[in-house]
Amino acid sequence: MSSTLFRTKKVEQSILDTEEPEHALKKSLSALDLTVFGVGVIIGTGIFVLTGTVAKNNAGPAVALAFVAAGVACALAALCYAEFASTVPVAGSAYTFSYASIGEFPAWIIGWDLVLEFALGTAVVAVGWSGYIASLLDNAGWHLPASLSGREGADGFGFDILAAALVLVLTVILVVGTKLSARVTSVVVAIKVTVVLTVIIAGAFLVNGDNYEPFVPKAQAVEAGNNLQAPLIQLMFGWAPSNFGVMGIFTAASVVFFAFIGFDVVATAAEETRNPQRDMPRGIIGSLIICTVLYVAVSIVVTGMEHYTKLSVSAPLADAFKATGHPWFAGFISFGAAVGLTTVCMILLLGQTRVFFAMSRDGLLPRFFSHVHPRFKTPHRPTILLGVLIAILAGFTSLSELAELVNIGTLFAFVVVAIGVVVLRHTRPDLPRAFRTPWVPVIPILSVCASLWLMLNLPAETWLRFGIWMVVGFVVYFLYGRSHSRLARHEETVAAGTDGPPSGGAR
Ligand code: ALA
Repeated sequence: MSSTLFRTKKVEQSILDTEEPEHALKKSLSALDLTVFGVGVIIGTGIFVLTGTVAKNNAGPAVALAFVAAGVACALAALCYAEFASTVPVAGSAYTFSYASIGEFPAWIIGWDLVLEFALGTAVVAVGWSGYIASLLDNAGWHLPASLSGREGADGFGFDILAAALVLVLTVILVVGTKLSARVTSVVVAIKVTVVLTVIIAGAFLVNGDNYEPFVPKAQAVEAGNNLQAPLIQLMFGWAPSNFGVMGIFTAASVVFFAFIGFDVVATAAEETRNPQRDMPRGIIGSLIICTVLYVAVSIVVTGMEHYTKLSVSAPLADAFKATGHPWFAGFISFGAAVGLTTVCMILLLGQTRVFFAMSRDGLLPRFFSHVHPRFKTPHRPTILLGVLIAILAGFTSLSELAELVNIGTLFAFVVVAIGVVVLRHTRPDLPRAFRTPWVPVIPILSVCASLWLMLNLPAETWLRFGIWMVVGFVVYFLYGRSHSRLARHEETVAAGTDGPPSGGAR
């Protein structure tokens, strides 16, 4: 049994699969497209919303250090991702990578985990977007009824109509084609980066040095409450749960980690990249470096503009300008945030459908979902299915806990990818690697430790929810995926003479 659980899909086979006419995506993205794509999804709710929350509740001005800590963990993971993405250039990200290296069952786990990450991530960002739009509408004197403004603060029934509408519109854009959405993305990314640079440059003139006192606030004991809400690490070691201080920086890092999610999504577009061997590492690492620098600068400026105890938790960047008497800048920032979150949402949705598509192409999910639209060349079926489900989810969910669940899922994927790099170096040393992770196995080991450390700083409750999702995944795999897997059915495609879907493909 263990041999079937750990059967691997040959890297060459993965690449071959992408060339089947009915299952092939268009190869149109360049390194620049990928970087824009990366920045487009990375900068979002994390910097626009969570900066204020964690500065106020966990780290004070040292939130800048939390961004550095989370950025280091991501950089380590990025070095591993880049090797994998440039070696296995097919849709599906960590899922595909682990299928080629560790085996089918771990790949299933990771694919299932990524579906959770992207679906909930899309919902979280859509809800954040809807908050900014609602506030802009309020400025214009238009008020949505409470029952259509989302669950947070709703009395009785609450459906976030704006968030759901956004997801549905983006679904249509993605069905029509990646190139179109990449073009839309470039314009929106330009607006978003302009807004972030405005915050940094205009805000720098409004910094008051007194606000940095204390830079690392003293640790404060948290009132004993629900144990499940304490970070797992504190429960494991029986520490008294505390905020601020050095541990507060790590708690903050495990939350602001959300701000970095997205560089891994770049890897999911490998199959649609013209020259993945060269462009993937450039796209992933380039977008990560740009974002880390921007985040650290923004958090230093914002905590310098307003004392951390006074920062807003819903729109901290805009509100810091309001607090310093510059409402015009605040309006501009809110507008840019709303526009910027649109692309984040769209790219998370894209990443999600591509993972689902890859799993279905491998037979682990019904093959019905792996047919590409004859005209648009996009995986329209999973895009529509997941788009509708996420729209419903975004309509009915609240933000905060979901963001933590997204983080744990992503960190778990990083752990698997780092292990996969080492395994693949041993099992397939012959494969050409356009990008090689330096100092293997040191960097992958450090990457695993950094990701695990951030995971342990997340609440026990988040671990529990993650565990439940994974158990459901095991059930689906053993009841469906294991027996329907193409590897199990020996449906390997023969390179020559393939002119239709392999037998067993649903029509
Ligand atoms: N990194 C993305 C954000 O902060 C997911 O919204």
